[in-house]
Amino acid sequence: MNYNRYFYGEYGGQFVAETLIPLLDELEENFIKYKDNKNFNDELDYLLKNYAGRPTPVYFAKRLSEKYGVNIYLKREDLLHTGAHKINNTLGQALLAKYMGKKRIIAETGAGQHGVATATVCALLGIECTVYMGSLDAKRQRINVERMKMLGAKVEVVDFGSQTLKDAVSAAIKDWVTNVDTTHYLIGSAVGPYPFPEIVAHFQSVIGLEARKFFIEEVGKLPDVVVACVGGGSNAIGIFRGFLEDEDVRLIGVEAGGLSEKVGEHASSISYGKKGVFQGSLSKVLQTEFGQIASVHSVSAGLDYPGVGPEHAYLFDIGRAEYYPINDKEAVDGFFELTRLEGILPALESSHAIGYVMKHHKEFIGKNVLINLSGRGDKDLHIIEDYVRGI
Ligand SMILES: Cc1ncc(COP(=O)(O)O)c(C=O)c1O
Repeated sequence: MNYNRYFYGEYGGQFVAETLIPLLDELEENFIKYKDNKNFNDELDYLLKNYAGRPTPVYFAKRLSEKYGVNIYLKREDLLHTGAHKINNTLGQALLAKYMGKKRIIAETGAGQHGVATATVCALLGIECTVYMGSLDAKRQRINVERMKMLGAKVEVVDFGSQTLKDAVSAAIKDWVTNVDTTHYLIGSAVGPYPFPEIVAHFQSVIGLEARKFFIEEVGKLPDVVVACVGGGSNAIGIFRGFLEDEDVRLIGVEAGGLSEKVGEHASSISYGKKGVFQGSLSKVLQTEFGQIASVHSVSAGLDYPGVGPEHAYLFDIGRAEYYPINDKEAVDGFFELTRLEGILPALESSHAIGYVMKHHKEFIGKNVLINLSGRGDKDLHIIEDYVRGI
């Protein structure tokens, strides 16, 4: 792969105000210093295993497989403490912040899972925590807002712009610039200026490494296809990183197709976006005809974001990974199919990946397909209820 220190091919970089450069340099320096440090990794491994619940199993979904004629395996990130893959990255980055001597952590969240995971690890490590969240997301994910508050975090609700994740990120960056000496910005997906996409991909790559090991040991060969939903792209890059060099393994990212292909009615940044700078890096971005950041829609708060991590834009351009939209209805169908056939309630984000495999199952007959089940669906039950009632 054509990766250098800042870029994935031509994507990535640091398109930020000069005041941020020393912070990003400090972060990179510490990331390089600790990512192979034995004490750091021993502490992180202990927490991933005994606190978060790793390794997560790979489960063969027998009834789903029989119905669709595809061997469907699920990487069970939904079983982790706090209910989603977000805890892998938050444990890694919060520990990094602790080793860097930072006393305060800020974060942004869409679905709330990253906010809950951040508030959780801050409680665990005794670090002060503030989480930014768009007011629309805060309404959609009110249970997660309550969870964050109970965990001792301050939740700052952002009322400007589209009141979703992109506005929460902007508010968090503003806070970071003002409070750099004390504060680490714990970004929740593989987005933002370098080194964030690399840090997040590193801490999430445990998903793909575990899944690859399982396939070799238990199935005797690698999967034919790996499928994951893509918001900013952290769970997808986490599982893809385990298989990037295995050229025979197809990598498929599933984006939020929303209501339609019309600008403003979806959040499929790779499928319909254009090259552009957004929140500190060059990637594929959803834009209006005038080059403004487009508004987005998805039934799932965690996919409702007009950009995508730069590594995904690069993997798409070189043809190493494919990206397709799945709409709200197909995702909700995916939710019910897994719930009723396997007794597993998936997050609405992950339901997009399931919906994709269901819709395209004829292409995968007889193949081994690994789906990253990025999180559990408890947080989405009221959204699904409203959706079914047509509200
Ligand atoms: C369960 C779950 N899956 C997926 C996502 C999308 O984020 P990413 O693309 O970074 O994995 C989120 C975001 O909140 C989430 O909560």
